[in-house]
Order: sequence, then C-alpha cells, then structure tokens
Amino acid sequence: MMDTSEFEIQTPVIAGNWKMHMTPSEARAFGEAFAARYAPHDNRTVILFPPAISFAATAEALSERSDLRLGIQNIHWEDSGAFTGETSAAMARDAGARFVLIGHSERRHVFNESDADVGRKVDTALEHRLVPVACVGETLEEREAGRLEEVLLRQIDAIIQDLPGEHIERLVIAYEPVWAIGTGVNATPEDASSAHAVLRARLAERTDDSAARRIPILYGGSVNPENAPKLLAADYVDGVLVGGASLDPESFAAIATS
Ligand code: PGA
Repeated sequence: MMDTSEFEIQTPVIAGNWKMHMTPSEARAFGEAFAARYAPHDNRTVILFPPAISFAATAEALSERSDLRLGIQNIHWEDSGAFTGETSAAMARDAGARFVLIGHSERRHVFNESDADVGRKVDTALEHRLVPVACVGETLEEREAGRLEEVLLRQIDAIIQDLPGEHIERLVIAYEPVWAIGTGVNATPEDASSAHAVLRARLAERTDDSAARRIPILYGGSVNPENAPKLLAADYVDGVLVGGASLDPESFAAIATS
C-alpha cells in the first residue's frame, strides 16, 4: 500500500498498456464493456494507459468509475515548449492522468531513450504528482550473456540515483524482460521473483527494508488470463503490466479479477 497523498495504491496493481492501439471510439467502447465486466474491488489498483489521443474518450467512458485509474504512456521532461508531438506531465495531470509509463522497452529500443532520459522523466513525473511506472528489463542477448543483474541495476540506478528517499517511495517499478514482450513467451514466476528480488534489494539500499517492500514491482511480458494468477502469486510480484491481453475487455477483466 502506498500513500500518494491523494489515493492509496493497493496491490496487486493490474495495469493495461494499450500502446498504439485503440482509437477514441474504440476506447469508449472498451471502457463501457470493461466497466460492465469488472466490478470495483478495493483490494487492488487497476490502471489503463490509453494512447494520448484516446485518453479523454477513455476518461469519459469511465467517468462513473472512480476506482479505476488512468495513466499516460509517455511524457517529455520539459514543462512546455517547442517539442512537436510531445506531451508534458502537467498536460497529462490536467487531463486526469495519475500514472505515467516511463522507459518502456519500446521507448528505449525503438525510440532510443537512454537511461538518462528515463531518469529525467521520472523526476519530472514526481514533480507533477504523477506516479511513474518506471520500466526496466534485459534483452535476450543480455540474459544469455549472464548480464541480467548488471543491466537491471544499471537501469534502476539511473531511475533512483537523484531521488531523495521519500521520492523513491512514490515509484512503481515494472520488470519487463524484453524477450517476453509481445512474444507469447512469458518469464516463469521464478524468473520474475528472482529479478524482482534484485530490484527490491537495490531499493532497500537506498531507502530501508520496509519502504522498499511498499514499492510495487510489477511483472510485464505476455501476461494473459491463464498465467496471471501464477505470476501474481510469485514472491515479490506485486502486480502485472499487460499489453496485448489488455486490449480485450473480457481478458483484461479476467486478469483484473485473478
Ligand atoms: P505484452 O506487452 O503483454 O503484449 O507482452 C507488455 C508490455 O509491453 O507492457
């Protein structure tokens, strides 16, 4: 449980990342269908990350559902300016976002975002009272070369290095092995647990054990209604970040209630 001064993050956290899917009309239809299939639960946090252009339609469709949270998929680190195509944290917050995905593997690998960019965006999100869902994860090549721990520590350090302890406690971390994203090959619950333990230990070094335990660490990569219960039951796994399976209201509702 994490107090963000406005609302508490109850774990498990079930987050849906729609990526570049869902037009505004589709988002509206999804909102209605999902609300009909998922009843409010007070023992978890369900978050949707629509594309920026479909954000308002999603918010409108879910306006009666104060239990559901919305997030934006990316922000720029500047507050405003000549940055064509970008969204600022203040804009996202004003539109109703409370969370922001930062450093998703597609941002890192397709759009060449560096660890430093990710760190700057995390700082900006926190300044604007958006909860960063900061993503880390190794490629298959890095895992096979025995570099899993080194990569995770480098990425998490870039996220937390400039943050005071009380800001670190406001993060959500998502471990998403790149080889598991969109491939249908999910990490085993044991793989997720051991990666999460590495991250949790690093967070504890910078805060303390009990603060580090309260920072939700989500697993992402080919989560579906069948594997979600086992992943959610794994040690140190406090939630899931779901891509493909979050596009179908029925399967996302099944994951959200698992
Ligand atoms: P996937 O995507 O569930 O489609 O593998 C996960 C993600 O990229 O967040």
